Amino acid sequence: MATRTLNNTLFTGKFLIHEAELPSTNQFARKLLSKTNPTDGTVIITDFQSAGRGQAGNSWQSAPGQNITCSIIYNTSFIEARQPYFLNMAVANGLVDLLARRIDESELRIKWPNDILCRGKKVSGILIENTVMGDRLKHSIIGIGLNVNQVEFPGLPGATSLRNECGREFDLHEILQDLCQCLEKHYLRLREGREEETRALYNERLFGRGQELSWQLNGGKLKGTPLGVDDVGRIILETDDGRKAFLHGEISLIKI
Ligand code: BTN
Repeated sequence: MATRTLNNTLFTGKFLIHEAELPSTNQFARKLLSKTNPTDGTVIITDFQSAGRGQAGNSWQSAPGQNITCSIIYNTSFIEARQPYFLNMAVANGLVDLLARRIDESELRIKWPNDILCRGKKVSGILIENTVMGDRLKHSIIGIGLNVNQVEFPGLPGATSLRNECGREFDLHEILQDLCQCLEKHYLRLREGREEETRALYNERLFGRGQELSWQLNGGKLKGTPLGVDDVGRIILETDDGRKAFLHGEISLIKI
């Protein structure tokens, strides 16, 4: 294990744990939280995850030493347990800001609920795990997989990387520094109570906003135009039967 520190943030990554290999950085963070009281903003990063986890029980595959696979632990007791999704919005906004330092922002979109797309392909995924105390969150583990220097994605035609999109390699430590800075900015915005700004930016960047798209719903199909997300992270669609809100898992895009 190596511990380093970042010098471009207030507290994110001041305590940085770097392991050559881990099953999953989120799992490591969970263990850390169960045994100790980690410093706010602790970052765990690994060169290789042998059992990386994605959304909805999927796995997260990442070629060794080529990408960012990390987790950040934040003390999130200022967030109401019934509205955890504002944190997802802040993290997605931070990731888009990071990528927009290298790629024109008009090429970047957030695919509800948590995917970051570049020119329609997935470049990054987010897996947030929260602990709750009473009506507030206690801690959040923000797991981020960001494809940086990987070129081939066998069996994943919808995946891309910064290198594929920019035509050059990137320094992973520099990307991590930028990532932590961008995430911290949006995290602090949320902590200052600026939820509506967070949501407005997320909605501006939402994939397919204002366009009629086809969705899968309970084995059937639905046409709906995304308008934005609500306080609990449901996507609001304009449909032939009026405005409807759907939770993640109830509905999915048929294709992008
Ligand atoms: C998704 O399915 O899009 C979410 C992917 C999240 C992957 C990251 S990689 C670092 C962290 N540790 C994990 O096991 N998963 C997250």
